[in-house]
Amino acid sequence: MKQLYLIGIGPGHPDFLTLQAVEAMRRVDVFFLLEKAGRGKDELIALRRDIMHRVRPEGGYREVSVASPPRPRAVDRDAAAYRAIVADWHAEKRRIFAALLAASLADGQTGGLLLWGDPTLYDQTITMVDQVVRTLPETVALTVIPGISAVQVLVARHGIPLNRVGESISIITGREAEQVDPASVHNTVVMLDYNASFQRFVGQGMDIYWGGYLGADDEVLVSGPLDEVLDELLRVKAALRDAKGWLMDTYLLRRRAVTDGDVED
Ligand SMILES: C[S@@+](CC[C@H](N)C(=O)[O-])C[C@H]1O[C@@H](n2cnc3c(N)ncnc32)[C@H](O)[C@@H]1O
Repeated sequence: MKQLYLIGIGPGHPDFLTLQAVEAMRRVDVFFLLEKAGRGKDELIALRRDIMHRVRPEGGYREVSVASPPRPRAVDRDAAAYRAIVADWHAEKRRIFAALLAASLADGQTGGLLLWGDPTLYDQTITMVDQVVRTLPETVALTVIPGISAVQVLVARHGIPLNRVGESISIITGREAEQVDPASVHNTVVMLDYNASFQRFVGQGMDIYWGGYLGADDEVLVSGPLDEVLDELLRVKAALRDAKGWLMDTYLLRRRAVTDGDVED
């Protein structure tokens, strides 16, 4: 039997590793490093290696690196077309996982995939690996180790709770933020936003809590009434993208409540 750990490593700093993640990493024989080509690739791989060295300074594991196909951008507004592009992308990733499990993990060994943030949030690795494992003649036991997500770091860094009293939270993509009825947004986290979609929500009594490179040494935070911080935010985003070549950001849009403060417990 083979064992595969899908380990959440938090979003950008080794300090986010949980003790459960550390214990799982100590049992790994082979770490699989998959990273998409692109300008952040080297840095994201380096962070994983740093984590591996910290947890296993004595070594004793093997590393297998594979180029991962890039995530398709939401360039096409047609939902069916976008789903088809994502389906192709997932099929390609499944082929990679199948090849890795067959060729690089021996019977009796434990493999480890270090997954950014929490593996259950905007990451379909669990589903894809599970689908692959079901097709294999051998048994591969899967274990998911939860991690701290970028969402949790965002609100912790801003020193706010994720929800207000009795209010729901939604988490959407930048693609959805471009299409959603702004009136329906009250307390919404936006991830995977490549187009600064928060601009659609100006003039609607929204506060924004924004974080770039959360958890990393170059983390940047901006918050305030969206109408007032919009220009700063656009400037900051453009400058960061220019300086580093890539940007990972997450933000919370929160409609200012008329009764704010009256009903908190
Ligand atoms: C594919 S999703 C993966 C989310 C991840 N599973 C998690 O739990 O945070 C990638 C998106 O997460 C957000 N993200 C991940 N890490 C981040 C970070 N360090 N700072 C800001 N946003 C981050 C960004 O919105 C990015 O586009």
